[in-house]
Amino acid sequence: MAFLEIRNLKKRFGSTQVLHGINFSMEEGEAVAVIGSSGGGKTTFLRCLNFLEMADEGTIRIEGGFAFDAAETYTPAQIRAMRLKMGLVFQSFNLFPQYTALENIYLPMQLRTIEQLKKEIPNRRSRRAAINRAQEENRARAQELLASVGLAQKAENYPCQLSGGQQQRVAIARALSQTPAVLCFDEPTSALDPELTGEVLRVIKDLKDKGCTLLVVTHEMEFARKVADRVVFVADGLIEEEGTPEEIFRNPRSPKTAAFLQHTVNQL
Ligand SMILES: Nc1ncnc2c1ncn2[C@@H]1O[C@H](COP(=O)(O)OP(=O)(O)OP(=O)(O)O)[C@@H](O)[C@H]1O
Ligand SMILES: [Mg+2]
Repeated sequence: MAFLEIRNLKKRFGSTQVLHGINFSMEEGEAVAVIGSSGGGKTTFLRCLNFLEMADEGTIRIEGGFAFDAAETYTPAQIRAMRLKMGLVFQSFNLFPQYTALENIYLPMQLRTIEQLKKEIPNRRSRRAAINRAQEENRARAQELLASVGLAQKAENYPCQLSGGQQQRVAIARALSQTPAVLCFDEPTSALDPELTGEVLRVIKDLKDKGCTLLVVTHEMEFARKVADRVVFVADGLIEEEGTPEEIFRNPRSPKTAAFLQHTVNQL
């Protein structure tokens, strides 16, 4: 079995079938770029992988993590546990505006710790002591994560005091704080001015070099070509074609892939 294995994933909104049965797998440490035309179902695919939408059919398995089957029902706690294995960085950063950069990373960590300790330590007084100890550890870890995306000096800044590129790097650090098995990105640079995309793409490249498993929906063809191990072209709710960047960009087999690439290159 592959590290991440997705079989026959289907999703419908009302009468519109959006995902028609996606089969996809990836190995640990792989970086996969997902490309495709608008409306093809890329975001819906990522949202189903992160359980922000529940697939109607299909299975999602992470080695040593979880096995989801759309035919089964899951409790909210089970869904939260599965969601933790799959990180997601959104196009629009989605930081909490009322919290500092550090708090944006640290507070969700602390909430997860409290939830965990509630299960592990029934005695309230012992639990409180453990929560207090975890607080310092979580703050230190959040500070380390901020430093790893080059923002050690911005811990006390609020999102409105950060550039778009900096906000997106905080969002990446926050996603990393849950140590996901796979980190997914949905067009992480498309809301940024062109001069700010480089700093975010460099952070993603660093993560790949550190061995993180990455699934990146992107319209940055240069990034897909240079950084991804594999490129997946999604069209009409299906994987139309996949291969190495060389295979997809130099010699696409499917006419749909060729037409998309032709059109995208012409727009540049
Ligand atoms: N919550 C929803 N309710 C109804 N239809 C939806 C919903 N979310 C997505 N869709 C539809 O599903 C289809 C795929 O949308 P999706 O956002 O997954 O495409 P995409 O490939 O990410 O496009 P883009 O490149 O523009 O981001 C679209 O036709 C969209 O209108
Ligand atoms: Mg999208």
